[in-house]
Amino acid sequence: MTKSAGAITKAIFPVAGLGTRFLPATKAQPKEMMPVVDKPLIQYAVEEAYAAGVREMIFVTGRHKRPIEDHFDMTFELEVALEQAGKQELLDVVRSVKPNDMECIYVRQAQALGLGHAVLCGQRLIGNEPFAVLLADDLMVGQPPVLKQMVDQFAEWRASILAVQEVPAEQTRRYGIVAGTAVNDRMLDVSRIVEKPAPEDAPSRLAVAGRYILTPGVFHEIANQPRGVGGEIQLTDGIAGLLRREKVFAYRYEGKRYDCGSKEGFLEANVELALAHPHLGAGFRDYLRSIDI
Ligand code: G1P
Repeated sequence: MTKSAGAITKAIFPVAGLGTRFLPATKAQPKEMMPVVDKPLIQYAVEEAYAAGVREMIFVTGRHKRPIEDHFDMTFELEVALEQAGKQELLDVVRSVKPNDMECIYVRQAQALGLGHAVLCGQRLIGNEPFAVLLADDLMVGQPPVLKQMVDQFAEWRASILAVQEVPAEQTRRYGIVAGTAVNDRMLDVSRIVEKPAPEDAPSRLAVAGRYILTPGVFHEIANQPRGVGGEIQLTDGIAGLLRREKVFAYRYEGKRYDCGSKEGFLEANVELALAHPHLGAGFRDYLRSIDI
């Protein structure tokens, strides 16, 4: 077995969604560019992928998503201005957004037909190797970063791995829900996966968070499933097809997920990451203590 055989070097970021839950903020701005403290959501996901060894970032974009491309591009005028002003620290911040060994590729999802369809748009760029999918809406904080934990598991199990967490019964409708057999205290050999079941139909309370490592066989499965929940081509249905042919594991990650697809989760992320921020944390804590809540 060669060393690179276990590496995950490519990731898909589906970023074509309309972000209607955040209107009017997302009227003329991609939701993935909304900042949590001082960084856009998409940058957290890209940094997580990079920390896991991914170097080819594949963004599945749509109309009005140009700011994402601009964000990961070189900002020549800004860099020259910061250089001339001797602002080295800010220059480093700007340059670190896209390390030199990171490649960004954009593919357009002309019609928003669902998450499975978005992933399918990356098929030709992925080719025949395992890859990661990261949903920027789910901001994950973990040490090691959650995708890195999953890549380490992949090196051992050599099969698709879904990040999961337990959710209250009344929330199963928001997630892909898995069931299966425990192989150790963190890993589950998945036997079923259902997209957004009602609590009474949910096979468990283990919900898929927005991190996946998938084998390329999933493309064929996505392409061959009928439309699923909401009339969309669902990634979950593709994975359900895949697990009839291959092993699929669910991994209870170590860390915390902020659902930045909801206003509550987005606000929680801002408060908690501000509190943890090396420069802002202490002052922000004092401020929160001082206000009347
Ligand atoms: C998507 C997936 C769902 C998964 C969730 C994680 O749903 O379809 O299976 O549990 O992401 O955030 P969405 O949040 O796009 O509706």
